[in-house]
Amino acid sequence: MSHDTTSLKLKKEVEAAEDFLPLLGTDYVELYVGNAKQAAHYYQSAWGFQPVAYAGLETGRKDSVSYVLQQDKIRIVLTSPLKEGGEINEHIEKHGDGVKVVALWVDDAAKSYEETTKRGAKSFMEPKTLEDKHGKVVLSGIHTYGETVHVFVERGDYEGAFMPGFKVWNPEYRPEPVGLKFIDHMVGNVGWNEMRKWCEFYAKVMGFAQLVSFDDKDISTDYTALMSKVMSNGNGRIKFPINEPAEGKKKSQIEEYIEFYNGAGVQHIALATDNIIETVSQLKSRGVEFLHVPDTYYDTVLDRVGKIDEDLKPLQELGILIDRDDEGYLLQLFTKPVLDRPTMFIEIIQRKGAKSFGKGNFKALFEAIEREQEMRGTL
Ligand code: FE2
Repeated sequence: MSHDTTSLKLKKEVEAAEDFLPLLGTDYVELYVGNAKQAAHYYQSAWGFQPVAYAGLETGRKDSVSYVLQQDKIRIVLTSPLKEGGEINEHIEKHGDGVKVVALWVDDAAKSYEETTKRGAKSFMEPKTLEDKHGKVVLSGIHTYGETVHVFVERGDYEGAFMPGFKVWNPEYRPEPVGLKFIDHMVGNVGWNEMRKWCEFYAKVMGFAQLVSFDDKDISTDYTALMSKVMSNGNGRIKFPINEPAEGKKKSQIEEYIEFYNGAGVQHIALATDNIIETVSQLKSRGVEFLHVPDTYYDTVLDRVGKIDEDLKPLQELGILIDRDDEGYLLQLFTKPVLDRPTMFIEIIQRKGAKSFGKGNFKALFEAIEREQEMRGTL
């Protein structure tokens, strides 16, 4: 079946099933990490996330600890185990630090659970209600690729710091935010020949539609190849590109990810800013490391993307990449992996009309990634 036929089929399925899973946005992203206290310090100091809430021994939680941090609409939860054994330790041993939960904000967590499980989703958490003096939060959850899960979060008029079981975390240490606004998209890497399966999962089980499609001819270098499709929910607030490795001359970055993560998982989180020059300047001065394309990228980039509002010089100095589609252009930059293993990284993106994901930059980027892979001996 060609890609076109597949997308038409997906489109029809989506039209038939529209609105069974209305999503209000991303509620939070939870990472299982080896040392949540130190990871929290990193996301505060380097990334400007603000402290929000805490759960641990002091709040009556005996076996794990969680820090909740937020910057504008982006909320992250960092969780570490306090004792041996158990699901969190197993996750960290297998995957290293990584995203466990992509939580989605809904009006009705029980209905979200029912609608997705009856369409074939594997249950992670049956609907449960958490209550304290600030109100109640209803949670439910389903599995997605690898050991990653989606938790549906129904907040109603809950007025506490995060959710029942957490207390306000209010330290004096509060480095300034860096201008990050919301999660633009989150990318999953899946195994060989699994991309279509997971795109169909998002179409059938969650009512998403395919946004754009490009094949491995579009994104391959001498060494690396991958295939990618972007799935989006109805209102476009949730966008999940899915990558699978494709045959190249040497090991692709997707394969490297799958090898070190021990399976499918979240490859990168793209965070939106209104001023990428300011945001990236801040991040660099706080020690965040970005991938670098060769200076020659800037010799020809304006021939490719045409006129842009920004001066090229600061973009070049910071290594910010530019791409254009039919609706406008975008500015983007990718960090090196933010964990010990060469797995997850973060993208900074500023959209100036463009709705795509920077395909025009992939070749230059892959070559930059391959230089890093070569240093790691994993190419
Ligand atoms: Fe991206």
